[in-house]
Amino acid sequence: MMSCGRGGLLFFFFLVFFLLLLTATTFWNTNRHNEQVASSDAEVVVEISVGEIAHERESDDGYVCVTMDWWPGNKCDYGVCPWKNGSILTTDLSHPRLQNLLRAIPRVTLRIGGTQADTVVYQDDDSSSSTPCLPFEPSETPSPHFQHGCLTRSKWRDIAAFANQTGANIIFGISALAGRQSSSSAAAVPAWDSSNAEAFLRFLKQDHRLYQSIVGFEFGNELNYVPNRTITPQEQARGFQALHELLQRVFPQKSFQLYGPDLGGWSDTFIRDFLAALGSSNHTSHSILTGITWHSYPLGPGYNNPHLMNTILNPKVLDSFGKKEAAALFNHTHNAKQKLVMGETGGAYNSGHDTVNNRFVDSFWYLQAMGVLAQHRHDMFCRQALVGGNYELINTKPHGSDNNMYYPNPSYFAAYLFAQIMGAQARHVTTLGRMEEHHANANNSGMEDSSSRVRVYAHCHVNHRRLGLLLLNYDNRTTIDFVLKGYDNDNNSDLIPRDEYHITATHIQADQVQCNGETVIVDEQGTFHLHPRTIIHVDSGIIIKVLPQSYAFVVFAKESVVSQRECGGATTTTSNGMASTV
Ligand SMILES: *[C@@H]1O[C@H](CO)[C@@H](O)[C@H](O)[C@H]1NC(C)=O
Ligand SMILES: *[C@@H]1O[C@H](CO)[C@@H](O)[C@H](O)[C@H]1NC(C)=O
Ligand SMILES: *[C@@H]1O[C@H](CO)[C@@H](O)[C@H](O)[C@H]1NC(C)=O
Ligand SMILES: *[C@@H]1O[C@H](CO)[C@@H](O)[C@H](O)[C@H]1NC(C)=O
Ligand SMILES: *[C@@H]1O[C@H](CO)[C@@H](O)[C@H](O)[C@H]1NC(C)=O
Ligand SMILES: *[C@@H]1O[C@H](CO)[C@@H](O)[C@H](O)[C@H]1NC(C)=O
Ligand SMILES: *[C@@H]1O[C@H](CO)[C@@H](O)[C@H](O)[C@H]1NC(C)=O
Ligand SMILES: *[C@@H]1O[C@H](CO)[C@@H](O)[C@H](O)[C@H]1NC(C)=O
Repeated sequence: MMSCGRGGLLFFFFLVFFLLLLTATTFWNTNRHNEQVASSDAEVVVEISVGEIAHERESDDGYVCVTMDWWPGNKCDYGVCPWKNGSILTTDLSHPRLQNLLRAIPRVTLRIGGTQADTVVYQDDDSSSSTPCLPFEPSETPSPHFQHGCLTRSKWRDIAAFANQTGANIIFGISALAGRQSSSSAAAVPAWDSSNAEAFLRFLKQDHRLYQSIVGFEFGNELNYVPNRTITPQEQARGFQALHELLQRVFPQKSFQLYGPDLGGWSDTFIRDFLAALGSSNHTSHSILTGITWHSYPLGPGYNNPHLMNTILNPKVLDSFGKKEAAALFNHTHNAKQKLVMGETGGAYNSGHDTVNNRFVDSFWYLQAMGVLAQHRHDMFCRQALVGGNYELINTKPHGSDNNMYYPNPSYFAAYLFAQIMGAQARHVTTLGRMEEHHANANNSGMEDSSSRVRVYAHCHVNHRRLGLLLLNYDNRTTIDFVLKGYDNDNNSDLIPRDEYHITATHIQADQVQCNGETVIVDEQGTFHLHPRTIIHVDSGIIIKVLPQSYAFVVFAKESVVSQRECGGATTTTSNGMASTV
């Protein structure tokens, strides 16, 4: 999807001319902007030091995961009902834009799950089946949850075809409350009734096209929040064992991954007891569990939250996101091999906030959270949601009269670029703000404040042996000049060739973004091009200028000295000297 033309000499000169024009325009705009805001604002230089490996995943792909939920159209929070046509059952899975946008994210994981996954019944053709397949119905108490829900066989065929056409790997949440719902007493939760799950798996088994996109299963969603159903870690572990045995019985030749326990929030003791009960507590024991999942909405509620915007734009809020959870987990498991997975987060809970979580501002917490969790040992990050809710990456709310659904919201491009550029090896990064020489007599306090309002993440793409950077500038007034420490003074050519993707918006709550100053156009089919700014000249090579309240991804070609030194890139150069695009 991303392309960089490789034309003749004429094109090359045109490109150089265009880049000069672009640079001049940006420079002029930047200066004008700073003048307008406050003449006392210093230009700030932030030095980036790329450090040791923080965490290395098994593969460059697969970190970016998106969720699709079950919520029906009459799911409302705070009087806002953002799930119309946004659930796995109601959205138009055959829509070419939806399909193409999902396909554009390399090896994306599609998690199908959520609260209602535990009430859904799988349609069973066997007329003797005791499980009626009923549509969702609001529960009497407590609202706004629902009972029932039905996955028909024809709907599953659509879902399987959707996954096949988009190349998405499915992780499917199996209902863990089957047979456990009608009990009236909190004390006695009966064992899981696996019969409906078994009927579903036997249906899948009939045709490999029905299950070939499924890589794994979850079992139970945030069971710690189900009213009056305290399911102990031991009961939860028994459920996983039962599901594991069922899968082996129905699919003896295939080995599906299991993910859990989908804890809402984190509980050290729950995780410890759950892993102990599964026999997964140390690295010598074989585990049926591939990944440990937890859910977190670190921004608070979607509504009745007057500080939501400020929370997103204050990077300190997420600096330690997932840190103690990762530390505690690896303490309990003695460095067991389980992956650690952010199984569900949409930032703000209860469906997010319209005009915030579906606008440009949303990308600031989302990108930071992806960067921080990648450093804190996480192997996958599932964004709630691909469609549905106010935090959807792809819009299901018709705008105006033209019913233009399934166009990307700004954070879609954040997911897309992160998946393309930020490879398996997450590095520690330190940043240091300093004043430029000619501003030496300006006020220092502004400089310190600004350097604390940037965040930088650095990953090596292991296959392509190149360094990728994500630079976030939260400051609404100051352009930041980023330089890489150890590469800046002696050898400017170290940092070329490279491609830069500067993502800006006309307003923090805009619903469209610009890439390198150009509004990103998505056509009828969902095709788009993010045109990189390719830096090939030494004289423009040192500084990466990031505008106020914007972010940039930078990919250093594997031929560059910085990629070779940090990521073991090859020593050959391309024939035309251009940066290899992602
Ligand atoms: C949901 O989708 C159906 C069929 O595509 C369409 O007729 C209906 O208008 C949509 N509803 C909303 C609220 O967008
Ligand atoms: C889609 O299905 C076809 C036919 O079964 C198969 O050959 C192909 O590998 C599938 N593609 C994906 C991405 O699963
Ligand atoms: C949960 O249990 C409490 C006390 O036993 C009871 O008052 C309440 O109605 C129960 N809630 C539900 C949803 O069953
Ligand atoms: C690890 O698990 C194995 C097999 O269950 C057990 O024999 C061993 O004692 C355990 N080691 C530790 C340190 O818990
Ligand atoms: C790790 O476990 C030890 C002993 O159980 C405990 O004292 C320590 O606080 C734990 N560390 C973390 C980060 O949980
Ligand atoms: C620098 O900024 C601080 C805080 O805004 C202010 O108190 C101080 O007077 C300023 N100093 C100069 C020289 O402008
Ligand atoms: C810029 O941010 C500061 C605090 O970070 C805030 O007080 C100010 O209102 C913001 N200005 C604009 C134009 O958003
Ligand atoms: C400077 O860059 C060139 C070409 O990119 C490289 O061959 C050389 O080793 C670099 N020199 C130093 C001192 O890093």
